[in-house]
Amino acid sequence: MSEMLVSPLKLVPLRTRPLRFWHRGEVVSIDNVRPDRTLLDLLREDLRLTATKEGCGAGDCGACIVVVGEAIGENLQYCAINSCIKPAHAIHGLALWTAADLSAPNGDLHPAQQAMLECHGSQCGFCTPGFVMSLFALYQRSVAKGIRVDRHAAHQALSGNLCRCTGYRPIVQAACQMQSKWDHKVIEEPIVAKLQSLAASNDGNTNYLMPTELLALLQVRAQHPQAQLIAGATDAGLWLTQGLRRMAQIIDLSRVERLRRVEIYPNYIAIGAAVNLQDAFEALSADRPSTAAFGERFAGWPVRQSGTLGGNIANGSPIGDSMPLLLALAAQVVLMAWREERIVHRVVPLDHFYTGYRQSVLVADEVLCWIIVPRPQSDEWFGAYKVSKRIEDDISAVSLSIQLRLQNMRITSVRMGAGGVAATPVRAIRTEAALIGQLWDEETLQRGQTVIQQEFFPMSDLRASADYRRQVLAQLLHRAWLESTGNNNVRLEALS
Ligand code: FES
Ligand code: FES
Repeated sequence: MSEMLVSPLKLVPLRTRPLRFWHRGEVVSIDNVRPDRTLLDLLREDLRLTATKEGCGAGDCGACIVVVGEAIGENLQYCAINSCIKPAHAIHGLALWTAADLSAPNGDLHPAQQAMLECHGSQCGFCTPGFVMSLFALYQRSVAKGIRVDRHAAHQALSGNLCRCTGYRPIVQAACQMQSKWDHKVIEEPIVAKLQSLAASNDGNTNYLMPTELLALLQVRAQHPQAQLIAGATDAGLWLTQGLRRMAQIIDLSRVERLRRVEIYPNYIAIGAAVNLQDAFEALSADRPSTAAFGERFAGWPVRQSGTLGGNIANGSPIGDSMPLLLALAAQVVLMAWREERIVHRVVPLDHFYTGYRQSVLVADEVLCWIIVPRPQSDEWFGAYKVSKRIEDDISAVSLSIQLRLQNMRITSVRMGAGGVAATPVRAIRTEAALIGQLWDEETLQRGQTVIQQEFFPMSDLRASADYRRQVLAQLLHRAWLESTGNNNVRLEALS
């Protein structure tokens, strides 16, 4: 957080550059790529690399998954990404693998491909390139850490891939079997060297700005307040492919080193706006283990690896998963801007951040830079629930998070955040008022259930009817009562 006090510097000058990345042993350099060109379109239409498929075009099915590698120190960090919703420029300075890049020059298959073959993991084959790429990323991560892939890790890594004909059992079996050959680790040294030379070239792009320093980010934001700000683009990518929106200029904050950190303090943790959802939920669950299962349901693995907590909050979707949880935890956001030759900031409680449907107090030159989450008190109980049609890779119909503090079973403090029931993520203020100071018994629960059903007027849409949403709110409150009074058998994790 010390960057708030940096001394004034001149504005960062802007330059143009081609899109450059490592692919098949070479640095690829492409001129005149529009900032809103997706990686999938660049691969299939411009470069004619058609091994990568398009299914949904919405980050849901995983047919388009490719793997990128980022040089972190002397090693590569592998990430499976949905190329259909990723701006092509976002892979500048990274290594890229598609499904056509895995087999050896003599035709020998990569262990991920071989295992899919041996386990009969493919029928029509349309999903197969995406599955193989998810397995390739899992293979590289597992080999680097020296750990074996178990079923849980396989389910996690494949949670962003859908298959409509083979069925998942043989694919999960392939994931657990592919490590019988450990000799296909990518030789990283020459790739890292090439990527470092790309990074060192320090060339900018006026249409797709990708600052690496916080100060530079705030300065380019001040210069270009009309530009589209993105991080992982897991939502903004949909505006391109589903909304057919054009973006003439993009500021991508995902490489801002300072904002890729989680900082732990005695009373709070500070999560940078470029921390991906996976890492953010790992940090949250280190303090509150009950949030771990919720984090695994946030989305499929590729979205959790690309999407950021800051992006989820800034987008302000009423069905965004993180905000009800953060509202219940009394989180705050730090908004920063470059004004009059210095960095200024303000701290806004999350329950004062939203002003309407996808609207917030953020002004044009501001960037949401940090999320501040208080650490738990010893007498805290916390529960976070999401109801959706699929376990992973789906959007909430309703979500509810509850923070309780009890003394002799009397409620001394309560905060509740709800999603899917209003135009913004909201606190259940009236329900909180009905519970505070009461004995946490069945009578209080029933009173709370009545109030929470009257507090909100949700809409009916394709995910759920208004009545269903109200009933689910009451049932989730019941579930929180059961769990917070010691009945943990209602949890799915307990059953499995
Ligand atoms: Fe379905 Fe990209 S095409 S996730
Ligand atoms: Fe046909 Fe998966 S093999 S969709």
